[in-house]
Amino acid sequence: MRIFLIGFMGSGKTTVGRLLADRLGVDFVDLDSLIENREGIAVREIFEKHGEEAFRQLERESLEEVGRIKEAVVATGGGLPTRPDNVGRMRSLGLTMWLDVPFEVLAGRWSGDGWVDRPMLRDEAQARELFDHRRARYSEADLKLDIGAEEKPEEVVSRILLLIASCAT
Ligand code: S3P
Repeated sequence: MRIFLIGFMGSGKTTVGRLLADRLGVDFVDLDSLIENREGIAVREIFEKHGEEAFRQLERESLEEVGRIKEAVVATGGGLPTRPDNVGRMRSLGLTMWLDVPFEVLAGRWSGDGWVDRPMLRDEAQARELFDHRRARYSEADLKLDIGAEEKPEEVVSRILLLIASCAT
């Protein structure tokens, strides 16, 4: 089984994904890291040197690459679902889950480097607009998890495991 975690920047896709993969005993893939390793430069630099479109193309290619792994939990970049057909492609490859975290909680998580490392974030007003705009795309996921401010990654993982079990029956 392949599980794709989608959601806005800071929603915990990487942290939750790594734990979930561990619990399921399958590979964990972080698409941003896959791209960085392949290109040999940081995501931020790809944006700076080549622009967003070039990064989106690399994202799509990396999605095709993980499609060749049979069982994996995949943490995706927050903008992957914004390109036409990417959600459809993920859904054809496996189960998509939207980690839906309230904006205020996300904003608290970006403090410091969270802003610097993320080229798509400029200021709070722009981030809010992007957040609102992207929700329609995220909502195309197979499953949505409403995540509370106090919820720990381990608790999110337990809920996902229950959901997967109920999907399988
Ligand atoms: C992006 C999200 C980032 C990364 C890139 C663009 C976006 O990943 O892919 O900076 O457009 O939302 P995270 O969601 O892991 O921060």
